[in-house]
Amino acid sequence: MHLNYQKAEPSIKLKTHTDSTGVCSPHLSLKLELQSQSMAASIAVTANYVLQPPPYALDALEPHMSKQTLEFHWGKHHRAYVDNLKKQVLGTDLEGKPLDHIINKTYNNGDLLPAFNNAAQAWNHEFFWESMKPNGGGKPSGELLALLERDFTSYEKFYEEFNAAAATQFGAGWAWLAYANDKLKVVKTPNAVNPLVLGSFPLLTIDVWEHAYYLDFQNRRPDYIKTFMNNLVSWEAVSARLEAAKVASSSSA
Ligand SMILES: [Fe+2]
Repeated sequence: MHLNYQKAEPSIKLKTHTDSTGVCSPHLSLKLELQSQSMAASIAVTANYVLQPPPYALDALEPHMSKQTLEFHWGKHHRAYVDNLKKQVLGTDLEGKPLDHIINKTYNNGDLLPAFNNAAQAWNHEFFWESMKPNGGGKPSGELLALLERDFTSYEKFYEEFNAAAATQFGAGWAWLAYANDKLKVVKTPNAVNPLVLGSFPLLTIDVWEHAYYLDFQNRRPDYIKTFMNNLVSWEAVSARLEAAKVASSSSA
């Protein structure tokens, strides 16, 4: 699966394409309306609420993330969010609407409406799968590394801050590297909330719901986070998202 951010005015489109896993993965494009103090950018998301497979085989992340974890996490948890969303919006004004529309509409300024959790979790999980790759992790390079060093003083400081956010998110939630107002920042969100509804462009995420790591790490969330950072992160995906975010920000400035 490849991400292809396309500049638009004042929005951009993020498209994900069929991968080579052989699993049916209909085209998905995303439109995410974002607004912040100084920018009104959007990442387009259109979706038919299809369970998009990870862009690698389910055993491809072993030994760092097991096939069994992917079978449950993608095959059952992610699938349930998509299936439940379909049922939830059936016959409502939200039926057939792009995921971004549903996410923003049902976030309702923090007073969540019923479809928010399934819509956001469907989006978050696809973003999470695309945040990883076999033989990933370690230190990024190029412009991304330069920006991490600029905004966190060093990669090691960013690593510490990201790990701490992921480790200290109480209960279920997510940790993110996000971009807004020409700066990188680490944020953590509870349950299904993501940076899209907070006015930032998400660049990287780790799922810290217990279902994400219990089979491989039981209660050792810090070990799961370190494994994610050291062995699984796709910095190529993060860099592509950063470039798209910068284009979207500049077009809306
Ligand atoms: Fe999850």
